Amino acid sequence: MKFFVDTADTAEIKSLASSGLLDGVTTNPSLVAKTGKKFTEIIREICAIVAGPVSAEVAATDYDGMMREAYVLREIAKNVTIKVPLTPDGLRACNRLTGDGTMVNVTLCFSAAQALLAAKAGASFVSPFVGRLDDVGESGMALIADIMQIYNAYHFKTEVLVASVRSPMHVVEAAKLGAHVATLPPPVLRSLFNHPLTDKGLAAFLADWGKTGQTIA
Ligand code: G3P
Repeated sequence: MKFFVDTADTAEIKSLASSGLLDGVTTNPSLVAKTGKKFTEIIREICAIVAGPVSAEVAATDYDGMMREAYVLREIAKNVTIKVPLTPDGLRACNRLTGDGTMVNVTLCFSAAQALLAAKAGASFVSPFVGRLDDVGESGMALIADIMQIYNAYHFKTEVLVASVRSPMHVVEAAKLGAHVATLPPPVLRSLFNHPLTDKGLAAFLADWGKTGQTIA
């Protein structure tokens, strides 16, 4: 499973990239707004930090506007992935862009039928939002299971990018279903490292090592 980080905060991205565990980055207009910085500059900075796919979302909602913005964004760096909404115009733009060899992430996916359309439009990634489905009393993970079943049945190349991830359990459940990518807010990515028995065990080992009076040299 690939790990992307879901943020536009370049300091966070730098810090997480140094772990060697980061395969890509996703941003969205809400995350960009939080930074107060110029969108194209943020994408340029992120692409210089991370070699993997960096999702940059169009703001237009009509086909021509999306294409105009996509052409600007994809000039920034080779690893820019154009993010389009799961709408008729978004999927038309997806079809056109992937035909040109541009990576496309189809976002705001909330049903298996929508995911099927994204795959047929040739998307590189589809982003089902699991947390937002859980928030309204539906099951985000049931959607991932349905999409994986459909994509596997037809050998679609589109990668399932699990988004709106809120907890380590979301990550583990998505991995058990074979989802290709999870995009994680930085706190969730950091929380994957944590277990109280790891901390307790390490403290005990260090205390016992201290008693030996030895150094490793
Ligand atoms: O970037 C898309 C998605 O991950 C947003 O998540 O937490 O705003 O539902 P959230």
